[in-house]
Amino acid sequence: MSFAEQLAADAQATAVTITDIFAQQETPATRLEQAMLYATMNGGKRLRAALVLGAARLAATDAPPEPVEKANLGGLRVAAALEMMHAYSLVHDDLPAMDDAATRRGKPSCHIAFDEVTAILAGDALQSLAFEVLADIQTHSDPVVRARLVSNLAIGSGSSGMAGGQMLDLEAETKTFSLDETKRMQSMKTGALIRSAVACGGIVGGADDRLLAALDEFSRDLGLAFQIADDLLDHDGDQALLGKPTGQDEVRGKSSFVSLLGQEDARHAAAGLIDHALAAIAPWAGAGYLQHLANFAITRKS
Ligand code: IPE
Ligand code: IPE
Ligand code: MG
Ligand code: MG
Ligand code: MG
Repeated sequence: MSFAEQLAADAQATAVTITDIFAQQETPATRLEQAMLYATMNGGKRLRAALVLGAARLAATDAPPEPVEKANLGGLRVAAALEMMHAYSLVHDDLPAMDDAATRRGKPSCHIAFDEVTAILAGDALQSLAFEVLADIQTHSDPVVRARLVSNLAIGSGSSGMAGGQMLDLEAETKTFSLDETKRMQSMKTGALIRSAVACGGIVGGADDRLLAALDEFSRDLGLAFQIADDLLDHDGDQALLGKPTGQDEVRGKSSFVSLLGQEDARHAAAGLIDHALAAIAPWAGAGYLQHLANFAITRKS
């Protein structure tokens, strides 16, 4: 299977898993749940899901922890949980109080398609559902593994991760950040969840400590590079392809790699980070897919 085919297959399998999880909810058709589904099933590259599945497969080929079908379902549920957390972050990021963006993934943002209150609550409930999915026995038979998944995602999405980074991001509109401060903001707001995706994939796949350490090194550089690429796309990307407003960072005077270094050096910084990320997992024969994903993170047009 080519990289593109594998990525499409992972995205499709994750979408099916998300749909199944919603179908199992007690009240699957309320307005709130419709908004949650709208936010998770409206496209998206499913990069975090692919990272979960890539890391889980790499770990499983290294040391098969469980019968294959069980490991697959566990990996898919973890992929679904990460996409739910990511979707929540986007729903809140687009709200008028944050980036005030009317489109997302080529469609009206959740608060436009529904309303602000529903969008806030849909984000809240998606976050809860992500943890519910990780904590469920269907995700992994071992409660220690489930606790590690929950803990990892909590740290990645909380005040020292995504939410903390979003707070710094709002500050970056009124205060000029140094390059180090910008790096910290980017690593927190976007890098932390990408780091959680890779770690949770490794954990559910049964990675040993050596592989987990290598995956962590890989994902830190990848997460930062991914946000630099997002900033470059905000600067010169094609709004129609991206499906979200462009030029927003400049309008808001937000510090970013692009505003601080300029386009060329920002591109160079992202490429250097990806080279380092690739090297971190190069000793593993099965690392090709994760390496393709890392290259995709900085070459993508959407
Ligand atoms: C966009 O993430 C928001 C950031 C964290 C930079 P993606 O570019 O992965 O968005 P989707 O999921 O493909 O829509
Ligand atoms: C979003 O950063 C980060 C999170 C949602 C956590 P951006 O605000 O740059 O993302 P886009 O460009 O709207 O997708
Ligand atoms: Mg934002
Ligand atoms: Mg935004
Ligand atoms: Mg952006």
